Amino acid sequence: MADSNILPIEFVDLKKQRARIGDKIDAAIQKVLSHGQFILGPEVKQFEDAMKQFTGVKHAIACSNGTDAIALCLMALKVRPGDAILCPSFTFAATAEVVAWLGATAIFCDIDADTFNISPASIKAGLETAKQKNLKAVGVISVDLFGLPCDYDAVETLCKENGLWLICDSAQGFGCAYKGRKTGMIGTFATTSFFPAKPLGCYGDGGAVFTNDDEMATLLQSLRFHGKGSDKYDNVRIGMNARLDTLQAAILLEKIAVYADEIEARNKVAAAYTARLQDAVKTPFVPADCTSVWAQYTLTLPEGTDRNALAAALKDKGIPTAVYYPKPLHQQTAYNRYPVAGNGVPVCENLAGRVISLPMHPYLTDAQIDYICTEFKAAMKAPQAAAA
Ligand SMILES: Cc1ncc(COP(=O)(O)O)c(C=O)c1O
Repeated sequence: MADSNILPIEFVDLKKQRARIGDKIDAAIQKVLSHGQFILGPEVKQFEDAMKQFTGVKHAIACSNGTDAIALCLMALKVRPGDAILCPSFTFAATAEVVAWLGATAIFCDIDADTFNISPASIKAGLETAKQKNLKAVGVISVDLFGLPCDYDAVETLCKENGLWLICDSAQGFGCAYKGRKTGMIGTFATTSFFPAKPLGCYGDGGAVFTNDDEMATLLQSLRFHGKGSDKYDNVRIGMNARLDTLQAAILLEKIAVYADEIEARNKVAAAYTARLQDAVKTPFVPADCTSVWAQYTLTLPEGTDRNALAAALKDKGIPTAVYYPKPLHQQTAYNRYPVAGNGVPVCENLAGRVISLPMHPYLTDAQIDYICTEFKAAMKAPQAAAA
């Protein structure tokens, strides 16, 4: 076992972040407790302004969580039954869940084996699938999986050519960049999540929607507040209760102040992992001109590796791991009635059995990274984990 400088290793270490900015966060919480404006208090607008500054986008609308963020966009886009929306199958359920809420049909697309993000070729196949099923393809929800932006040149071109809107589900990718454009600047809308384990996380649930469209921004502000018009007792449309709590905004204001620095630290951790592991396993690929925020550091194991044995061996050494995602959405009980694009999504199915994510947060030390990599390589060589 390693010494106390190395262990314990957390998968996501929020305690280390608290050691850095906990005092500031506690003071910010205390300030909200004192002024008492718990719903849409001044910190919400201040945090929205901070997000605008961070991303360069014209409008940032804070909301209740990353799931509601996508739902608000779909409501603004007037999605209805008979509409088909293309999204990857290799993602968290929320991406497709909201499509079902509105009675529309998700068409599950395959992913690129190197980036884990939606495959433009599979979007094309999915458009044909929609036609065959007499569905009207209206849009794409792309996902910046594990914090890496997807292939936006190709996806935006396909959307333009086919009259589709684009929602970038950047729940895992707030602050990631594609050819100099941060998420939020891309798509009809982009959304994110501030779930505690996300790269920028709060102390509960939170989310946001980004758009450069003034009318859509006004609509979203109404939709997140019961469809309000001139005031909260003037209800001009059906909306939701989807506001971000002032307390969460106050916490996020302190966290966004150190976020650029944390993204840099995450990139250093990822680079250190890759340097040490690339001779032993397929490490994550980051295309040129893309910056990941490393929500996850995900390896692709050789075919036939006993992933459970590997994870158990690492756990024995005090190293937590996770599998995102063991089962793609088109194979889940709740979603298996929805179509897949074209002839299927073989890459999603293959990778679901081979991916494993290592601890990732900005406060991992070199000694911890060394230890994790040494133990990972040893476990890969052990007969129970090695490829059959
Ligand atoms: C890709 C993706 N989309 C949407 C969500 C939903 O975000 P939330 O948990 O804030 O509702 C998540 C959260 O894990 C996610 O990873």
